[in-house]
Amino acid sequence: MKGIILAGGTGSRLSPLTKVTSKQLLPVYDRPMIYFPLQTLLKAGIKDILIIVSPEHSGDFMELLGSGKELGAELRYEVQDKPNGLAEAILIGEDFIDGKPCALILGDNIFTDDMSEVIQSFQSGAHVFVKEVHDPERFGVVEMNGDQVVSIEEKPETPKSNYAQTGLYLYDSTVVAKAKSLAPSKRGELEITDLNRKYLDEGSLKATVVKGEWIDAGTFESLFRANQVIRELSR
Ligand code: DAU
Repeated sequence: MKGIILAGGTGSRLSPLTKVTSKQLLPVYDRPMIYFPLQTLLKAGIKDILIIVSPEHSGDFMELLGSGKELGAELRYEVQDKPNGLAEAILIGEDFIDGKPCALILGDNIFTDDMSEVIQSFQSGAHVFVKEVHDPERFGVVEMNGDQVVSIEEKPETPKSNYAQTGLYLYDSTVVAKAKSLAPSKRGELEITDLNRKYLDEGSLKATVVKGEWIDAGTFESLFRANQVIRELSR
C-alpha cells in the first residue's frame, strides 16, 4: 500500500506561528508535527510515501526529511498550488498511486493508537477512522451500523451521530476515478466527504472507532494539548 501525507493549507488559524513556516513543521514536544502522521504510516509498514506541500514551504519539508532514508522511508514530494480541498491529494498523487491501494493522512493529525492491524488487513472499498466528539458539527460526521457506514455528512447543522471522521483514510484502486468525478463544494473545495460518499453509495465504506487519542493540531488549544499528550507518552 502507498501512503500520502497532505501537508499543505495556509494554517491561518495558527497565525502568527504559521507566518513564516508551515503548520505541519511546528514543534509538538520534541518533534516537528509531520513526524507523527509519518510514524503512523511507517508503523503500518507503509514506506513508499508522497508528501504534498504548499509552494511556499516545499524546500523546508525536503530539508527536514530529505529522501526519508534515515527514517526508513522512501519519500517523494508534490506541490499543491492552492488549498483546493483534501480530495485533490488523490488527483495530485495519481501517478504516484499507480493503480495501487493507498492510505491518505492529514499532516496535522496525531494518533496515539497503532493503526497497523486495520491498515494491513484492508482489502477493498474505503475505510475511515472515527472518534466520538462533543462538537461533531465541526467535522465530517459518520453514522454507522457495526463497522458499516450508513451516512456521512460534512459539517452538518444537525449531526446524526457524535462520530467525527478523522484525517486518516484508506482507499482501494478505484479512488483516482472516483476523485476525478468530484465537483467542488459550496466552499469551492474537493471534499473528502464527497469522495467517501462515493464508496458509501456502493456500500463499501467501513469505519473503525479510534480508541486512543486523536488530535487535529490546527488550533492553539489542540496544538497545546498535542504537546502535553506527547510529553506524557515520552516520559
Ligand atoms: O480533521 C478532520 C476533518 O478534516 C474531517 O472531519 C472533515 O470531514 C474534513 O473535511 C476536514 O475538515 P476541515 O475542513 O476542518 O479541514 P481543513 O480545511 O482544516 O484541512 C485539514 C488539513 O489539511 C489542514 O492541515 C490543512 C490541510 N489542507 C487543507 C486543504 C483544504 C491541505 O493541505 N490542502 C487543502 O486543500
